[in-house]
Amino acid sequence: MSEEKAILTIGDKQIELPVYTGTEGERAVDISKLYEEHGLMTFDPSLANTGLCRSTITFIDGEQGILRYRGIPLEEFANSKPNFIEVAWLLIFGTLPKEQEILDFRQMLTERALLHEGIRQHIELMPQGAPPMAILSAGINKMVCYYKRFLTLDDDDQFADAAAQLISQIRTIAAHSYRRSQGLPVMYPDPAMRYCANFLHMMFSLPYRQYEVAPEIEDAMNLLLILHADHEQNCSTATVRVVGSAQANLFASCASGVSALWGPLHGGANVKVMEMLESIYQGGLSPEECLEAAKDKANPFKLFGFGHRVYKNYDPRAKILKDSCDRVFAILKQKDPLLDVARKLEELALKDQYFIDRKLYPNVDFYSGILLRAIGIPTNMFTVLFAIGRLPGWIAHWKEQHDNPTRRIIRPRQLYVGNNQSHYVPVEER
Ligand code: CMC
Repeated sequence: MSEEKAILTIGDKQIELPVYTGTEGERAVDISKLYEEHGLMTFDPSLANTGLCRSTITFIDGEQGILRYRGIPLEEFANSKPNFIEVAWLLIFGTLPKEQEILDFRQMLTERALLHEGIRQHIELMPQGAPPMAILSAGINKMVCYYKRFLTLDDDDQFADAAAQLISQIRTIAAHSYRRSQGLPVMYPDPAMRYCANFLHMMFSLPYRQYEVAPEIEDAMNLLLILHADHEQNCSTATVRVVGSAQANLFASCASGVSALWGPLHGGANVKVMEMLESIYQGGLSPEECLEAAKDKANPFKLFGFGHRVYKNYDPRAKILKDSCDRVFAILKQKDPLLDVARKLEELALKDQYFIDRKLYPNVDFYSGILLRAIGIPTNMFTVLFAIGRLPGWIAHWKEQHDNPTRRIIRPRQLYVGNNQSHYVPVEER
């Protein structure tokens, strides 16, 4: 309950509105009864300033560039290097898992790694070159056709079963979709391998040659997944909540999250960044021309990997990824010329008045592609890797909403600005 009130004055009427304060001091005016009681709606296109829910999962301070999962700063995960599975558990179930809980959850993932043959055959029927994000979204939705027990999740055990199935099989579907795009036979999961190593094995092993997973590559992928694991009410997570609010099942809700993530303004930006860096490297345009194009309002081009709805400071994920690129290349004794191009572009943008005035900084997608390339992931799989990372966040938000006894279907309003009443005219009289 709220002690503080906001007063909205409209005409000669004064309306009292409750004000809530979050645990980190954020304040929100509750307008939820405004229409019902006063016939007034609020207007917030793109929901840029609308609190969709109360949530305990992730905190972001966009002004200071802070990101915490269940209160723990992102940097601590980067330094302590937990397994992605541990972080997934933390996000979904709310606490750091005890050792036995990690072992049990890992066992659940191992037991569920193999795809149903029906789903594997569906992937085989996709045309070669089909976008992996389309296959991923379809594959997740298809799971309930084969496992009908997941259509309704009534208790905690059923939910844990479904969450483990999704987290385990998303990487199997992802790897199979890549094999399909390459016309290669699928590699089945290896129960002896950890989460990331198993994915890399299914991506790159051949029936006659086992892919050796280098520990630094496995670590880099593990970190990358952790950094993508949740980001409060981003576009795909909000989508999962909207779909889930209609009581759609967990799988349908997460499949819709994959579709939202695919867009180039969201997760698809990691592909666009690489295309942009590649074009600069190949001499298609200079970094300066790239910035000019991004600043030109007549040009739809954006500086991909820059800007964020919430961060008005350096995205903490981008900082960690940039350092990680340097570390991985040093260990592998490799160089990627695109990293130099990215650094140059960042340096120029951060000095440019357009970017300074608008507080546009590198976001998570600016350096992630370079790290993914170092891991050996092809560009058409970049957004799929983002989806694998983001899945625990989607599941956590779906659960938080599902467990809330006061939840309602999400249904915004609109300000209608179309025709006033008009009349149907038969086609021969138009
Ligand atoms: N390049 C050039 N101008 C930009 C960019 C950019 N990347 N981002 C924002 N702006 C401009 C924008 O045109 C606007 O200018 P003005 O005030 O003159 O009209 C101003 O900065 C404010 O931006 P906005 O339109 O209010 O930003 P938004 O919150 O609606 O959009 C965004 C956020 C991330 C979609 C946008 O910054 C963008 O398109 N960035 C490039 C795509 C990208 O990197 N997306 C990944 C986002 S982070 C990870 C994720 O969510 O997946």
